[in-house]
Amino acid sequence: MKISPGNYLKGSVSLPGDKSISHRAALFSALAEGETQITNFASSEDCSSTLRCLEDLGVVVVRNGSEVRIKGVGKNGLNPPANELDCGNSGTTVRLIAGILAGQDFDSVLTGDESLSKRPMRRIIEPLAQMNAEIDSNEFLLPMKIHGKNPLKAIRYILPVASAQVKSCLLLAGLNAAGKTTVESPAAKTKTPNSRNHTELMLKFLGADIREDFRETDDGFIHEVTIDGGSKLSSRDLVIPSDISSAAFFMVAAACLKGSDVLLQNVGLNPTRAAIITVLQRFGVKIDILNERVACGEIVGDLRVTGKGNFEYNAASHIIDGDIIANLIDEIPVLAVFGTQIEGGLEIRDAGELRVKESDRISAVVENLKRMGADVEEFPDGLRVGRSSLKGAAIDSFGDHRIAMAFAVAGLFAHGETEIMNSECAAISFPEFFDTLAQTVIN
Ligand code: S3P
Repeated sequence: MKISPGNYLKGSVSLPGDKSISHRAALFSALAEGETQITNFASSEDCSSTLRCLEDLGVVVVRNGSEVRIKGVGKNGLNPPANELDCGNSGTTVRLIAGILAGQDFDSVLTGDESLSKRPMRRIIEPLAQMNAEIDSNEFLLPMKIHGKNPLKAIRYILPVASAQVKSCLLLAGLNAAGKTTVESPAAKTKTPNSRNHTELMLKFLGADIREDFRETDDGFIHEVTIDGGSKLSSRDLVIPSDISSAAFFMVAAACLKGSDVLLQNVGLNPTRAAIITVLQRFGVKIDILNERVACGEIVGDLRVTGKGNFEYNAASHIIDGDIIANLIDEIPVLAVFGTQIEGGLEIRDAGELRVKESDRISAVVENLKRMGADVEEFPDGLRVGRSSLKGAAIDSFGDHRIAMAFAVAGLFAHGETEIMNSECAAISFPEFFDTLAQTVIN
């Protein structure tokens, strides 16, 4: 995909449904008793992987674009799959489904593409084994064979890293455990969950016996979530907000191109996801939040972003680290691109988890920023980028959707043409991205 420099962005941007929430909507509706209509289901290929796995487990899924109808089978009504379950590129699919399958009384095998087959599964295999599931894997990598047990043993588990996928995996296993399962997250400075809490909100919305608490310790507040294995899910129609992680590309592009004025509607504003807004606002980016409301337990609103073309300099804002990282983890590639446009640049720390995403996102961002002539330094847990005048370059997406899209945004700020190699990987989260960008950018 070739990207020419942009002048400004204008108009209302049509965004896909939230990928994280869509996965959960599909999985939890399948475990519910009764039928669910899901509206604004993500167009993301990852979410199609989740639907395909559910069909392989005997769930009836009727899809008409972003409208999906699921016939719930109840938490013990899945069928043993005839074949391996292919999770494609999707970490959320494999980790959440593993939690469900651990508590079934049949065996199943989970596989994925080349990227997913390199991603760490020890983080779910060890706690699921503590719950008495038996899992064979290729040295903690896919493929993974799960010998389910029903019921599992309820445990209290302390997450070594703040990960919503691991937390959700264990809560789903907890749905089929005897007693109460508690998952504790690492301590944080404030009483905010330090990984996305869509699972907790949606399970609560569907009637599960699930509780979130904060425990104060010397190190800060520990977020703990407890689910009762006696919980049942009822089916309730679900409306998915638009994906803030997809909106982020347009937020950064509009913020940096003077004269831009874009409207991003129905965006999910869950505080565990919305830190990108706070960070951009720290630099004086004008983002108005309109029409804030709650839908299916999630906060939603419309965002109007206007590009002033200048930013406020505030030395303290230039380091992004600590608890906030988990709340903008997927936005870091495009945030690094933003760093090239602001006086003082940006330093990102405590983001070592980026090395085990769809690609090693720290090295992918550093490599591509270098290709565009940026002043950038790599650290084990992050990077530092200085304000830089970017030049068009051939970009390696490393097959990673967020790298492809972040560097399409960088291309708008560059002199000359930028070419994104293997750009079709954007479809993992946002198949319409390049068309939407073309419709919104005025060159
Ligand atoms: C996700 C959680 C995050 C995020 C991923 C989606 C989820 O991963 O990076 O894109 O839907 O739960 P971790 O839980 O590994 O941090």
